[in-house]
Amino acid sequence: MKRVFSGVQPTGNIHIGNYLGALKQFVELQNDNDCIYCIVDMHSITVPQDPKELRKHTLDVAALYMAIGIDPNKATVFVQSDVPGHAELSWVLTCNSYTGELSRMTQFKDKSKGKESAPTGLFSYPVLMAADILLYDCNIVPVGNDQKQHIELCRDLAMRINNKYGETFVIPEGRFLKEGARIMALDDPTRKMSKSAENPLSKISLLDDESKIKKAIMKSTTDSEGIIRFDIVNKPGISNLLNIYSSFSGITVQDIEKKYEGCGYGDFKKDLVQVTSEALRPIRERFEDIRNSEELIIALKEGAEKANAISEATMSRVKERFGLGIGK
Ligand code: TYM
Repeated sequence: MKRVFSGVQPTGNIHIGNYLGALKQFVELQNDNDCIYCIVDMHSITVPQDPKELRKHTLDVAALYMAIGIDPNKATVFVQSDVPGHAELSWVLTCNSYTGELSRMTQFKDKSKGKESAPTGLFSYPVLMAADILLYDCNIVPVGNDQKQHIELCRDLAMRINNKYGETFVIPEGRFLKEGARIMALDDPTRKMSKSAENPLSKISLLDDESKIKKAIMKSTTDSEGIIRFDIVNKPGISNLLNIYSSFSGITVQDIEKKYEGCGYGDFKKDLVQVTSEALRPIRERFEDIRNSEELIIALKEGAEKANAISEATMSRVKERFGLGIGK
């Protein structure tokens, strides 16, 4: 059995990019693997957060995990800050990472662009992410394509420490969807769909109702050619919509192109509204019950206990390798 680990930040509402790029895989993987899914609240404080909102979003994401089909009897689900090992290991990794490699991270460059000074946490964000992964000896990390660079850094750090201090960490592999499966913003298909985007019509959140889904899809940016054809470079808007259609329906992009030969964008978009609404309706319906249930809190507490047990074993190994503490 392989060990799987992944995490989602509790900032704003989870959108279909998060779902199709990562979360959908979480559900598929839980049947044949030992899965650990985290709500990474400590990553969220790399930018300012309202404390009440942060806690609300943390529980929202936990409830969404369950609403999309993650079963706490199969997978371990917990909140990052409930397991102190993440911060502890993060420091050890920080001492083995270089400012040069962290400066090259595109996410940091994007988020700090134009600012005279950026929070140190934003700079070392990928090191905390590496700690999340390495703490659990995991083999597979299902994430969206935008996290490729962070996974590479995590592997580099693990190999560096294994070479210098002896076998300490399992080297994880990223699990990405095929290239082009990154879900782009609906109002600007050259940018990825993002939780922090200002225009509400740029994204569809998992909890959006049908009228919002309709508005966002019908208003989405396409091109003037009027032909439903996948071409990421010249037709990024329609290609993005084809990706969304294909991911929700399970029909290949090629078959969708055939189905809509000779049709206009309007008809295609109308059908996409239906496909998306049907996929999201059951998630929305389950969410409220789960969010207000005692079971959610119990599952998170039990998840943190299980995660802590693994984390403590890893940290004791790390401390031995580095000569930290007074020893056994
Ligand atoms: P976050 O919270 O930004 O996003 C959660 C997951 O959604 C994927 N994703 C996308 N996939 C396709 N298209 C998009 N437009 C899109 N936007 C986001 C992300 O790749 C991610 O898989 N750094 C991570 C959180 C994290 C983590 C970890 C992940 C912290 N520690 C350890 C894995 C393992 C992040 O920012 O996710």
